Amino acid sequence: MAFSWGNPLNWLRSYRHLTAYIWDNTDKKRKEWVRAQRERHGDDFVLDRTDLERFSFLLLADTGEGDQSQRVLVDKLLKEGKSTEFAIIGSDVVYPAGRSHHYLARFHMPYRNYPKDIYAIPGNHDWYDVLTGFMIHFCDNQFHRKKRNERTVDETKLRDMRAIRSNETYQPNMYFCLDTASLRIVCVDTGIRTHIDDDQMAWLRRVSATDKRKILITGDPIYANGKYDGRLAELDQIVKNYGYLAVIGGDTHNYQQYRVTLTAVGSKRDVWYFVNGGGGAFLSRTDHITESSAMRFPGDVRVSDFDVYPDREASKGFFDSAGMGFLPDFIRWRMPVALLNKDRPPYYKSFMKIVVRKTFIEFQLFRVENFGQPWLDAGPWKRIRVS
Ligand SMILES: [Fe+2]
Repeated sequence: MAFSWGNPLNWLRSYRHLTAYIWDNTDKKRKEWVRAQRERHGDDFVLDRTDLERFSFLLLADTGEGDQSQRVLVDKLLKEGKSTEFAIIGSDVVYPAGRSHHYLARFHMPYRNYPKDIYAIPGNHDWYDVLTGFMIHFCDNQFHRKKRNERTVDETKLRDMRAIRSNETYQPNMYFCLDTASLRIVCVDTGIRTHIDDDQMAWLRRVSATDKRKILITGDPIYANGKYDGRLAELDQIVKNYGYLAVIGGDTHNYQQYRVTLTAVGSKRDVWYFVNGGGGAFLSRTDHITESSAMRFPGDVRVSDFDVYPDREASKGFFDSAGMGFLPDFIRWRMPVALLNKDRPPYYKSFMKIVVRKTFIEFQLFRVENFGQPWLDAGPWKRIRVS
């Protein structure tokens, strides 16, 4: 059955979406989880993959509604993922509210044939059950964040799910750093209200202080829909000061790219900012995004090479035929896109494969609009190379 935000039960299940606007205690809950993880893994939260030097991995985000728009990507992921070493889901693994029992249909089943480990960072939806499901399935923490002897998952049920797919190694925390011989992949958790707590920020500064090449994976993107998210300005400062090559966010369910050129005395370098949220859930519209020539960012930051998928025209066509046609345009235009979601082709889904070599890193972008061979055989739509 298609997942639907028209079903009031899904809004009830994610009631924290509303309460977080009055009182957001994500930082407090995160610290409780982190305390438990420190006892198990120490302070650094580094996943050591320094066995990898020349390698590639998959990166997708906003995946788990368990319906066609999630499944349509899977064959292509498996094809492109054949030679990859791992996959990362960059936010919103399971909708509507990250519950453990939804992981079977929305995570284990769809990705059961991907043979390597899958890691993830949480998005707001994963936090709507206080991250309990996420901590079980990605961090292998099967106990309550404070009552350490109280199980949060039935052992038999978990064993059954892991018989379908499981990791060889589980990540040490919800925010963590995946360290390879040639690239450090730093993964941060922006919670429900796009915020990074002090503890996490201090950790981030520590793991960023390396000469190794680095990319940042974040739940909420710094640049999206032609705008700059000022709530992430401190995070962005770290990106610039510590020489990150690229930042990849999710949360917005389409693909966008921004190249920011930083100039200092005698030097010039680019940072790429991507939105990579087309991994399965309902589509976010792109026809609202202003033309790149009209985009204005704080501090007169110059952005070039803006691109978006689906393009504005395709997005308009998608939403014009999305139902609720009996409502006047000015109302439909303002409605949450989740309510206009239609689980039919063209799906306009996308994901990235990141190829790491000694002299460059290549971001390959794949698109899938429907089931079938043409999409399965298509090469990357884009290759963006940084060195
Ligand atoms: Fe999402």
